[in-house]
Amino acid sequence: MGFNQNMILDRVKPLDAILATAERKSLHRSLSGIQLMLFGIGCIIGTGIFVLTAAGAQKAGPGLMLAFIIAGAVCIVAALCYSEVASMIPVAGSAYTYSYASMGEFMAWTVGWALILEYAVAASAVSVGWSGYFSGTILQEFFGISLPAWLAAGPLALGGAPGGFINLPALVIALLVTALLVVGTSESAKVNAVLVAIKISALLAFIGLTLTSSEFDMANFNPFLPAGLDGGFGSGIGAVGAAATIFFAYVGFDAVSTAAEETKNPQKNVPFGLIGSLLVCTVFYILVVAGAVGTIGGQPIMGPNGIPFPAGSEELARQCALPAYSGMLVCSDEALAHVLRQIGFGTIGNMLGIAAFLALPSVILVLIFAQTRIFFVMSRDGLLPERLSTVHPKWKTPHIVTIMTGLVVAVGAAFFPVGLLADYANAGTLYAFFMVAVTVMVLRKKDPTRHRPFKMAGVWIIAPLTMAGCLWLYLSLPYQAILVLPIWAAIGLVIYFAYGRSRSHLGRGIVEVVDDIGGEETMVPIHPPADGKSG
Ligand code: ALA
Repeated sequence: MGFNQNMILDRVKPLDAILATAERKSLHRSLSGIQLMLFGIGCIIGTGIFVLTAAGAQKAGPGLMLAFIIAGAVCIVAALCYSEVASMIPVAGSAYTYSYASMGEFMAWTVGWALILEYAVAASAVSVGWSGYFSGTILQEFFGISLPAWLAAGPLALGGAPGGFINLPALVIALLVTALLVVGTSESAKVNAVLVAIKISALLAFIGLTLTSSEFDMANFNPFLPAGLDGGFGSGIGAVGAAATIFFAYVGFDAVSTAAEETKNPQKNVPFGLIGSLLVCTVFYILVVAGAVGTIGGQPIMGPNGIPFPAGSEELARQCALPAYSGMLVCSDEALAHVLRQIGFGTIGNMLGIAAFLALPSVILVLIFAQTRIFFVMSRDGLLPERLSTVHPKWKTPHIVTIMTGLVVAVGAAFFPVGLLADYANAGTLYAFFMVAVTVMVLRKKDPTRHRPFKMAGVWIIAPLTMAGCLWLYLSLPYQAILVLPIWAAIGLVIYFAYGRSRSHLGRGIVEVVDDIGGEETMVPIHPPADGKSG
């Protein structure tokens, strides 16, 4: 049977059925704008700033400050798009569900598939970031233990470190967080508030100490753009190349948009929370880079052709192993603690290391949690095996999908380097953001009168800007990361046509809306079945 375009783009989930479920749930609106902002900061600040600062500096030098502005700006316009759709369609599944309701099952599948990169691969990246602080600060500084090289990083062939084989701490933290999720741990507002306070105090201490340090020297900012503004398509260098990588430092804010439904006065508080958290993080990030570069310098290690060695490459790892380079910012696995140690604040550097050690696991938890919920919804829609969404009788968690996700995250964390994982995660995330921008516009056209708790002004400017920004960053990733998205999509398409399309509940004439694990769920038969077949 041949598919024409209409047959592929046909199955659109009726928004009314989705909203009927959401209405029944009607969560108590209790979150204020400030609480939403704190939640956002909790999800956002993590490996991006604590670790990838080193990779970012290798790509852009001091121009990393500009990179944080570029990536932050793209996230802010994307956040506005998320705010509108999330407050309008406040059910589980994020960008996947929004696409299902606007562009249909096929596009939704591609988004859900890309979200695996955003959440699962990002969780691996944060686990590897955590491992650097665990090995450097906790084991080395406090216990004087050096992990043998083969247990501290993935193999060099995959971009790990010389002598590396497996990143044991990263593997263990991913499995520990998974175990917590299986027994039903969820982010508690109190724990989140404490962790946000720890992260902010650590960054404030870093900024205060570095910017006032006697080591601070404006000469370190010259040249500001040693690798240029934009290294061009697939180069992964220059300020824009660095922006594409440290975009990772902002990933996670979309988790906040899913709390839109629980927010008081969403028209005002949702954009306040989202934009507020992104702006606060942007300011912090720029000041952190200013402090790091101003004190110990942040110039890249250049290859023989005057182009920086690729971050995470074998060549760079070899250069960093030389005593002349080992103290450089771009060579550190725990960039921020390293800077403080270099300028004579060893104890505070170690405290910052402890802050990262304590706070990064909560970012891993949010990411794995988000991933399991996407898988859960996709399996309830029939696009993935339904067994995956089995809920544990005692713990009331989707334990099968959680364990499966955790194993994938752990394997990724064990063998791949942080920069590569972050770039792959960014490719998937940029696709999801792009599609959310498309969704906003499609819904404005298709369903112009529906109530929008947050209605963005200037949608016809902001949504296209989001799309352009996402595309620009995507094309500025290193070419391997650019390639990952179409390859990943091709695998996804094979699975969709071989498995999901014929089993899809919507395709079989049932609209199923899942709101939450163990929560409300609606099944509405529709006639005739969406593609004219039954069963
Ligand atoms: N933004 C999160 C981090 O940087 C994912 O760790």
